[in-house]
Amino acid sequence: MFRRLHEPANAVTIQIDGSPVRAAPGDSVAAALLATGNPVCRQSPASGADRAPFCMIGACFECLMEIDGVPNRQACLVPVREGMQVRRQARPTPVGAVASPADKVAS
Ligand code: FES
Repeated sequence: MFRRLHEPANAVTIQIDGSPVRAAPGDSVAAALLATGNPVCRQSPASGADRAPFCMIGACFECLMEIDGVPNRQACLVPVREGMQVRRQARPTPVGAVASPADKVAS
């Protein structure tokens, strides 16, 4: 797991799913995410499995996140900015999906 060795100087604060996260100027959004200790950035549309940044150079597309209201941005290529709003992307509901019996009991 990743963690910062020291608090960054001149840190900026971004919001990830509404929680404040401090990051160093020049960090990518993916680097800031990894430093939180929870690397999950999205769920696979096919299987629903959690996904996390992998290559950190823009090649694998595993790091897709919603950044400032724009979905499917590569978080490893976007530098943090004070006040940035970031959201993890949940698995989209398939078109025509029907709730399972367990969903009906819960509601
Ligand atoms: S981590 Fe591979 S494209 Fe961002």
